[in-house]
Amino acid sequence: MGQPLENAQRTAIVTVALGRAAELAARDLKDAYVLAFLRHVGCTADAPIAADVFGGDEIEARRWLALVDWGRPTDVLRVLMRNMGAGKSAMKRARLIANLLIKLPRLNRTAESHCEVAQSLADDLGCSVRVREALAYSFERWDGKGIPRKKKGGAIPLPMRLVQVADDAQAFHRAGGVEAVVAMLAERGGKALDPTLAETARAGAAGLLAGVDVPSVWDAAIAAEPGPPDYVDDAAIDGALQAMGAFADLKSSYTRGHSAGVAELAAGAAERLGLSPEAVADVRRAGYVHDVGRAGVSAGVWEKEGPLTEGEWEKVRAHPSYTERILARPPLLARLGTLGSLDHERMDGTGYPHRHAAASLPAGARLLQAADMYQAMRETRPHRRAIAREEIAATLHQEAETGRLDREAVRAVLESADHRSARDRARGAGNGGYPGGLTDREVAVLRLVSRGLSDKEVGQKLDVSARTVGQHLAHAYEKIGVTTRAGAAMFAMKNGIVGAV
Ligand SMILES: [Fe+2]
Ligand SMILES: [Fe+2]
Repeated sequence: MGQPLENAQRTAIVTVALGRAAELAARDLKDAYVLAFLRHVGCTADAPIAADVFGGDEIEARRWLALVDWGRPTDVLRVLMRNMGAGKSAMKRARLIANLLIKLPRLNRTAESHCEVAQSLADDLGCSVRVREALAYSFERWDGKGIPRKKKGGAIPLPMRLVQVADDAQAFHRAGGVEAVVAMLAERGGKALDPTLAETARAGAAGLLAGVDVPSVWDAAIAAEPGPPDYVDDAAIDGALQAMGAFADLKSSYTRGHSAGVAELAAGAAERLGLSPEAVADVRRAGYVHDVGRAGVSAGVWEKEGPLTEGEWEKVRAHPSYTERILARPPLLARLGTLGSLDHERMDGTGYPHRHAAASLPAGARLLQAADMYQAMRETRPHRRAIAREEIAATLHQEAETGRLDREAVRAVLESADHRSARDRARGAGNGGYPGGLTDREVAVLRLVSRGLSDKEVGQKLDVSARTVGQHLAHAYEKIGVTTRAGAAMFAMKNGIVGAV
């Protein structure tokens, strides 16, 4: 979202302090604490559209807009027009702004995707039904001018109203201290924000915000959890990590299903090499999360059709480091993040970001490198089509020959891929059945929609009308309980409908 690190943690700390001041019931307080972390996690759902609307860099645009009141469209426009294309020629700026004005309405329609993706992630993390439902209201406003459903007042669940106040308060506190927070609350109470909660926050602002001025915001946020802490148990970890990977894969229409594909290939290869069950599990889990750092790089870069500039390459090369940092705190995730972030290193020291060579690359990392290259070549990229299996195998062998990939790892990954495609062919023949009672046709439509194709484009591929595609899609949505293309893509990723070889 273009916010500094630990934005959600700061919001969680203020949420709990404010909830206590407002004497919320224990259950509401706990829900609010969880919502503080999840409110913005659907941000990848609309990233490709946002990047397009904002002229290429949605992260930067969201940074400019962090303090803007979305209920005042002229303010939103003023901020954007001041910042967009700053430093570029008048001609270029005019073009960016014209593009913005034409496309801005599309952004309003993406709120629903954002919410649905957050809800999907909440399900996989084992959150309560109440949390799931409240996430539908992340961008609604007290005065009913929010999106997507223009719900107002008490129709917005109390824990979400609390998080909205806390989120704005901590952002203004960072920008301008307690004074700025007090002025903002006086202005937004009864408009964007619940007036009673805004008043409680205003009255106690200094005390409430003292909690974020601490040496470790992370530790304070963990300590702030009301009641007994929630844990994800060992059995649920795989599902939670797979969901995190799917969330990151949403960032670009080209990478849908990438992370689960890498995980499965690498884990299959690890089994073939006779690694211990613990090591196999680590490889699979590291595969799920190896690209979560993609979320930190603008969708405009991942979707760009022409050659990348030096600056854009710099961003791409940073994504494994983001992965490592995002996962750095809990020891289990730190181990997986370190392993996963090695997937672009190469045996001869020519990879990125650290130019590590063979001696610092464990077996699991070598498998992930070969699996990542295989899976990526199976996927379309902005500058090329998906590559055929035989050609991928030849490339991987060549990479092993030249000493960039590990020979054993390449062999095991290729075997794993053959095994997987044989199994998927069997399933495609109707032997395995699809989740949710989806038909073959509906699966075919979902697969293409998940890759970012419009109804019309899907129709051209499947040789039917766009209308027929729309009907298949409507049936599929009903069967799997989603309402947006991003929600459908999340489902498709989790069920191996996209990303499988
Ligand atoms: Fe990557
Ligand atoms: Fe990757």
